[in-house]
Amino acid sequence: PQSLKISPSILSADFARLGEEVAAVSQAGADYIHVDVMDGHFVPNITIGPQVVKALRPHSALPFDVHLMIAPVDLYIAAFADAGADIITVHPEAGPHLHRTIQLIKAQGKKAGVSLNPGTPVEVLDPILEDLDLVLIMSVNPGFGGQSFIPSALHKIEAVRKRIDSLGKAIDLEVDGGINEETARQAIAAGADVLVAGTATFRGGPEAYAGNIRRLRGEA
Ligand code: DX5
Ligand code: ZN
Repeated sequence: PQSLKISPSILSADFARLGEEVAAVSQAGADYIHVDVMDGHFVPNITIGPQVVKALRPHSALPFDVHLMIAPVDLYIAAFADAGADIITVHPEAGPHLHRTIQLIKAQGKKAGVSLNPGTPVEVLDPILEDLDLVLIMSVNPGFGGQSFIPSALHKIEAVRKRIDSLGKAIDLEVDGGINEETARQAIAAGADVLVAGTATFRGGPEAYAGNIRRLRGEA
């Protein structure tokens, strides 16, 4: 689509040079910066917190697309908003009151997203879709970069695309996990308009980023 966005996951960046990496993908044509926050509890890996998000903020003018894989999540919404997140995405399993969590994000003046794990059905969106700015379909089980795309995510993308179109609201439909040139094409055909890509963006080092992003868009 005309509006296709690429959101590089900095989980695959060089963590010793994170600021430079964020600047490099921003200059290489990314649309968002995807920040994976993991707590070692909701998912079996630990990454970064609000302090690192704040430190990265001056290195890019792009929206920070912050994917919170932490539970309970409500306690940390304000900290990530203050740190410079623009879009804050949560999982329905990260607290007992999804609707309240979404309102907390919006009360911070930020865009709200909900992310569905491979085992989470799309119906969970039905009561809250109109409140969202973004839906994130996980095409791997969250926790690590470099995993293989789970094909059943394509059906979920199609189902959510129908719901978004019938609602008639501009809601990003993002896919995350195992995105490469081939799965990017499939996800776009199913209706996704934001592609998260870690491995596929950062492979080959900074000289390769612009070409990697172009290929994900389906350009030569
Ligand atoms: C997984 C994260 C993803 C991950 C994607 O838990 O949410 O954003 O970094 O990495 P790739 O693109 O390598 O599958
Ligand atoms: Zn992610």
